[in-house]
Amino acid sequence: MTNKKRPKVYITRKLPDAVETRMRELFDAELNIDDRPRTQPELVVAMQTADVLVPTVTDRIDAALIEQAGPQMKLIASFSNGFDHIDVDAAARKGITVTNTPNVLTEDTADMTMALILAVPRRLVEGARILIENPGDWAGWSPTWMLGRRIWGKRIGIIGMGRIGTAVARRAKAFGLSIHYHNRKRVNPATEEALEATYWDSLDQMLARVDIVSVNCPSTPATFHLLSARRLALMQPTSYIVNTARGDIIDESALIQCLREGKIAGAGLDVFENEPAINPKLVKLAAEGKVVLLPHTGSATIEGRIDMGDKVIINIRTFFDGHRPPNRVLP
Ligand code: DGY
Repeated sequence: MTNKKRPKVYITRKLPDAVETRMRELFDAELNIDDRPRTQPELVVAMQTADVLVPTVTDRIDAALIEQAGPQMKLIASFSNGFDHIDVDAAARKGITVTNTPNVLTEDTADMTMALILAVPRRLVEGARILIENPGDWAGWSPTWMLGRRIWGKRIGIIGMGRIGTAVARRAKAFGLSIHYHNRKRVNPATEEALEATYWDSLDQMLARVDIVSVNCPSTPATFHLLSARRLALMQPTSYIVNTARGDIIDESALIQCLREGKIAGAGLDVFENEPAINPKLVKLAAEGKVVLLPHTGSATIEGRIDMGDKVIINIRTFFDGHRPPNRVLP
């Protein structure tokens, strides 16, 4: 960074120590070590005093907030891959650049997606819970006890064949699943061939034919409740759904109803419509073994968080060096 003046950077959450140390070295960094989501009034002050805001997915950076930014605010360098929490159009109108941290979460999120794909049909959490909570209840191996559903040989339908969707497809193929996908456009022929993937232009038709649905598309106005009551009803009663993308892509109430009525066999959810609030009906379904719930930990690895921090730093430095930051998000 060639700038004499160090940019004032407001970071909304506690970040890994190594990232915070580097930020302190490079920037006039205001760190928030108490690690709680900032209130809207606190964010307003940040927008009016800092040159850069580093939010996370827990901060709502909407048009009303952006409107209140002072002229010094130049960059929103999000510590996240997804940017549905930021009104990118409003930022562009205000002349504020937005960046994110793509690529570094891809493999970790795909691993967790795979973990849910395995956990739900194979009743992993149910089995593990018995041995933690009531080990005496286990009478030993039985030919008919705790039977789940076979995974290999089944069909997975991936919604959103971007970086994470493709990484899920690679893993799923190695587990013997046949790959089906729905995406705004077809992936390149070489990728399709390597994955032996079948493209479905019609999401409805794909949903009716696959055994496991994996949601891997971004949350946008176009994908809000993409999996509506009508679409969920197209799935087979023996099928499962896994979501490591964003909660609002699935109509959660409709999903709960389908699970309760046995119209879908089970679900693995890492994301929810009203995070961090969890619908108690989902918790009940988890207790019954129909769903596995995770607290949005799809990308939560130490290495991944450090990589995210590095990306944020590179974006800020490049921007203040007068260049286009590598992970600029366009409206
Ligand atoms: C992201 O960065 O978009 C993830 O959902 C947070 O782990």
